[in-house]
Amino acid sequence: LDGTTQAIYQLHTDAQRLYQHTLLNTTSGEKALSYLHNVRQLSDEVIKTFGIGFVPNDDLLCNYAKEQNLSHELLTASQLFITNDMNGEMRDRFSGRIVWPIRTDAGQVVGFSGRALDSDNSIKYMNSPESPFFTKGRILYNLDRAKNVIRQTGTVMIFEGFMDVISAHMADEKIGVATMGTALTSEHVRQLTRLAKRILLVYDSDEAGQNATKRSIELIENSPKHVEIGVVHLPDQLDPDEVRTQRGLEVLKKSLNQSILTPIEFLVNEARIGKNLNNQSQYLTFLHEVMQILKTATPVEQDIQLTRITKEFGTSKQALQDQLRQINIHPSH
Ligand code: CTP
Ligand code: MN
Ligand code: MN
Ligand code: MN
Ligand code: MN
Repeated sequence: LDGTTQAIYQLHTDAQRLYQHTLLNTTSGEKALSYLHNVRQLSDEVIKTFGIGFVPNDDLLCNYAKEQNLSHELLTASQLFITNDMNGEMRDRFSGRIVWPIRTDAGQVVGFSGRALDSDNSIKYMNSPESPFFTKGRILYNLDRAKNVIRQTGTVMIFEGFMDVISAHMADEKIGVATMGTALTSEHVRQLTRLAKRILLVYDSDEAGQNATKRSIELIENSPKHVEIGVVHLPDQLDPDEVRTQRGLEVLKKSLNQSILTPIEFLVNEARIGKNLNNQSQYLTFLHEVMQILKTATPVEQDIQLTRITKEFGTSKQALQDQLRQINIHPSH
């Protein structure tokens, strides 16, 4: 580790400490703290466990860095500040935001994600920008704290956001990680398949989350190392954090443990969405999509899904099997 990187790491460590102090112990943090307590329903214990902080508007970190005689170049390289193009002045990048520290799997703080308190007049989320030490295609939120339990249980849960990871933690699922507002990468998957033999996808149950689930299934299935995939389906377009705050911790616990679908089940359920299956042409489109999904499934999984369709719509199992066989013979159809 060269001197500059070491100094940047130290500055991140100090920033986390100063920001958390501001949140928990100062008047400038009061509004943010009551938001975290009352709206997000987080206890001080959870706030401390995850190192959450608040960045005041008085350039606390900038002034601290100057006291430490850190060079202008180092401050720029740290990405913790924004330089005003007009007068060259530096300000704390996350001023006025609640910040969640992002750590490497070794536990070093290398960036922050900042959330605006009111989402009306500013961009809701802002992350540290990509840099040599903050690479979103590699970093997984909470992996440092979760990796031992992931290794012990052989299972990891992937979430969309850090508040979802924290909600799962509160529901006693301490195997959660999240990507940093970007898609899952094969590098993320490589790291996780070294620790786990089972990956559960717990994305938001809105359209964006379900589309992300499809992409992640494909990515994980293409991983060189075989890994079992499960998809957790949450109710009513909610995300895990919303399930906790709107339905309660017990409902989240249940969902995380009991609403687990195989990728095939998930994809077949998805194929139904937006179709009127009493309409013959839409039903045939649905069947066509199901056959595409089942092409690569195991015979047992094919049978389970075809049986379901036979029971529900009355189409004979034999006809469904014939159609599936045709698709396998003529894969382009
Ligand atoms: N995210 C991000 N940058 C954005 C939007 C989202 O980094 N511009 C990340 C955040 O980590 C966020 C996650 O992606 O937690 C999921 O995004 P989204 O579901 O839109 O967040 P919300 O659940 O709406 O956020 P919140 O619960 O804080 O309102
Ligand atoms: Mn959102
Ligand atoms: Mn989302
Ligand atoms: Mn969400
Ligand atoms: Mn949310």
